[in-house]
Amino acid sequence: MNFELISTDSASSARAGVLTTDHGVINTPIFMPVGTVGSVKAVTQEQLRQDVKAQIILGNTYHLYLRPGLEVLSAAGGLHKFNGWEKPILTDSGGYQVFSLAANRKIKEEGVVFQSHIDGSRHLFTPENVMDIQRTIGADIIMAFDECPPYPSEYRYAKKSMELTHRWLDRCIKRLGETTPRYGHEQTLFPIVQGSTFKDLRTISATEIAARGCAGNAIGGLSVGEPEQDMYEMCALVCNILPADKPRYLMGVGTPWNILENIALGVDMFDCVMPTRNGRNGMLFTWNGVINIKNKKWATDFTPVDEHSPCFASRDYSKAYLRHLFAAGEYLGLTLASIHNLAFYLELITEARAQILAGTYTAWKNKMIPVLKTRL
Ligand code: GUN
Repeated sequence: MNFELISTDSASSARAGVLTTDHGVINTPIFMPVGTVGSVKAVTQEQLRQDVKAQIILGNTYHLYLRPGLEVLSAAGGLHKFNGWEKPILTDSGGYQVFSLAANRKIKEEGVVFQSHIDGSRHLFTPENVMDIQRTIGADIIMAFDECPPYPSEYRYAKKSMELTHRWLDRCIKRLGETTPRYGHEQTLFPIVQGSTFKDLRTISATEIAARGCAGNAIGGLSVGEPEQDMYEMCALVCNILPADKPRYLMGVGTPWNILENIALGVDMFDCVMPTRNGRNGMLFTWNGVINIKNKKWATDFTPVDEHSPCFASRDYSKAYLRHLFAAGEYLGLTLASIHNLAFYLELITEARAQILAGTYTAWKNKMIPVLKTRL
């Protein structure tokens, strides 16, 4: 993997770059649609390529390990072959899903014992087997096995958890060094900064993570219920410590305005279920603001979902029609809302990049944020 910085904003820490993997090039800043079980819910790979214009998608180790399982993924020749997505893939390590989804989990030095949310079966995730599993899935970028502490956390718990995450990271690095990619393409490990909302812990964690010298770095444990200002404060602190010449990935964030603010702090990569999950609930993000498409007020509004978007799902269907699809429980509503929201996120981040390159990012961001937040 190679990362080249093209331009840095003069009024903020926003950067534009190019990330090159064996499955293709990613222009940063970038938003990565979430395909938890190897599928971005309700959207085909063709639609992701053509309409959403996704450059990289996410998969989840926890879900893919439980279903379809390693035997199938291995026999398929990895996730790229299995799901037909030939562009870059990033897999999260399971260090988040185990804590949010699995039952009866027990954290030990060795790893985490948990019960599957699907059938209650017992499993053990360790830094070593999570690296092996991600080798078998075959993502281009793989994440270290971490613990994401809940918010709020006691200082003592957050500190112990962070220290465990650092010890697990060294085991991840060791295991990855002892193994080779299964399918010929390079797999790059990103470690994850933790430390909850404590400044001194975030400082220690970012310093420790930076010292490992990995090719990219991630910021975890944010957007877990803390006030937005705390997220920005932690993100700014961590970005100032993580090396400037490596990509920075803020995990699980967020709203369109969260993304623009965090780009200004120096973040290059984002993922979030919000455009797809909230889209399936009728929440649409547009260039004019936020729409609840289930609202009665749209019943006879025959204007496009978003006239500013070039995407077919935004332009060729009216708000009234999409509202009708939701009211009638039609599957097409879920697909159109998901494609629209994802296309909007990609348009927004592509425009952010253009503004960074033009040297106008900060003024543009400050003008856009109140518009994006408007409830229509
Ligand atoms: N996704 C969102 N936040 C996190 C985190 O802290 N750790 C991991 N592994 N994934 C995440």
